[in-house]
Amino acid sequence: MVYENVLKVIGNTPIIRLNRVTQGGLAQFFVKLEFMNPGGSIKDRIGWWMIEDAEKKGMLQPGGTIVEGTSGNTGVGLALAAAIKGYKCIFVLPDKMSTEKIRNLRAFGAKVVVTPTAVEPDDPRSYYQVSRRLARETPNAFYINQYDNLSNREAHYKMTGPEILTQMPDIDVFVAGIGTGGTICGVGKYIKENKPSCQVVAVDPVGSIVYEYFKTGKLRNAPKTYKIEGIGEDFIPKNYDFSVIDDMVQVEDMESFLMTRDLLTKEGLYSGISSGSAVVGAMKWIREQHPQWNDKNVLIVLPDSGSRYLSKAFNDDWMREAGFLGKPSLGTVADLLHMTTNTRHPIIIANQSEKISAVIERMKEKDISQLPVSDSEGWIKGVVTEGAILAALYEGKIKSGDPIEPLVDPSIEFVTPEDPVEKVSRLVTAGKTPLVTDPQKQGEFLAIITKIDLLTYLGTRP
Ligand SMILES: Cc1ncc(COP(=O)(O)O)c(C=O)c1O
Repeated sequence: MVYENVLKVIGNTPIIRLNRVTQGGLAQFFVKLEFMNPGGSIKDRIGWWMIEDAEKKGMLQPGGTIVEGTSGNTGVGLALAAAIKGYKCIFVLPDKMSTEKIRNLRAFGAKVVVTPTAVEPDDPRSYYQVSRRLARETPNAFYINQYDNLSNREAHYKMTGPEILTQMPDIDVFVAGIGTGGTICGVGKYIKENKPSCQVVAVDPVGSIVYEYFKTGKLRNAPKTYKIEGIGEDFIPKNYDFSVIDDMVQVEDMESFLMTRDLLTKEGLYSGISSGSAVVGAMKWIREQHPQWNDKNVLIVLPDSGSRYLSKAFNDDWMREAGFLGKPSLGTVADLLHMTTNTRHPIIIANQSEKISAVIERMKEKDISQLPVSDSEGWIKGVVTEGAILAALYEGKIKSGDPIEPLVDPSIEFVTPEDPVEKVSRLVTAGKTPLVTDPQKQGEFLAIITKIDLLTYLGTRP
């Protein structure tokens, strides 16, 4: 069989049985391999569908530019269709996304803009707002907006739903992660209309606001950040239709990452982290709600490929640092901060426009040898050390009345109190400065960890 172009092989992904990661006695679990789409994810379906929909509605003109805030996969899906149809692409990503995803999009010739994760959706720096602005400012551009564009869930209602019921008419439970809501709400609607006895269950990460909103109708600020990518939200997209979802289950980072590895080593399935989440969620829901359903068929969506997470789930060092492979033996950053409270200096942040003489004065007054430096919007850009100031003044590269900005060393890395000390040690050894921020308080700056702090901590441990 020969196909006209790559868009024609989107969909019709296989379903296979899980054999070794499942727990005996529970239901029969099956997975739908969406990573077998040509762009490697379920988002190929909506990329193509949303572009054709925009063309039909006259919102996308030949040679136009597609703008989207995307966690990577939707970008690839859009880029595939854009390549075939001759559109340009600009994608906006939050900075927690893996480097593979960013490189992948650049490989398609797309322009990629990276924005901070730890800001509210209505903040002008958030990836939602930056996408909107770029779409406004670019001539002949169309903002796809997979969150509120209802052709996202329509793609799944018209394509993925019928495909599933054709492939697996004896399905009893459908499980998928919820991100934009396109998959679960589109497929869910088709299932509810055509096989109402089938239960539709969404999987949401702990730290997202969706689960609580589904259960109680209350909207709260995101309680914490999480490392699972692609599912969970901090707002309610228009694609959500809770009337087609029977229940929702929460999953943690660690169990999701470990299951992602198990899916590869025990089932040969090279899928992404939200796939691990979906399998963990499905098994948890059956165990907690219907432990007797041992003959029921549960179908789980595996949205994307493991190749996008080589630097995370499939990297032992990263997994160890995240605390997902055994307990960190050296304790956590919180332990280090606690032990060094008396020797650490008060938190002072310089502004990049401050004069060098003023910064020297502050260092002298507080007896500190380095301080973080922020930009005009309050974002920390790096650190400045007395060594760097001394060298620059001595070599005559700079005068004391100049701003501190050129001396700012950007080799900083943000850590949280829950991170293991191993991570901080590795950063310090690599010449980086760890800055501790509090994810519970929207990334509020807590401390700078110096070599002396680390020595004090490690040197006084029994
Ligand atoms: C890796 C991954 N998994 C799951 C999802 C969730 O699917 P949906 O957006 O259709 O709810 C996404 C969507 O961004 C994703 O990128």
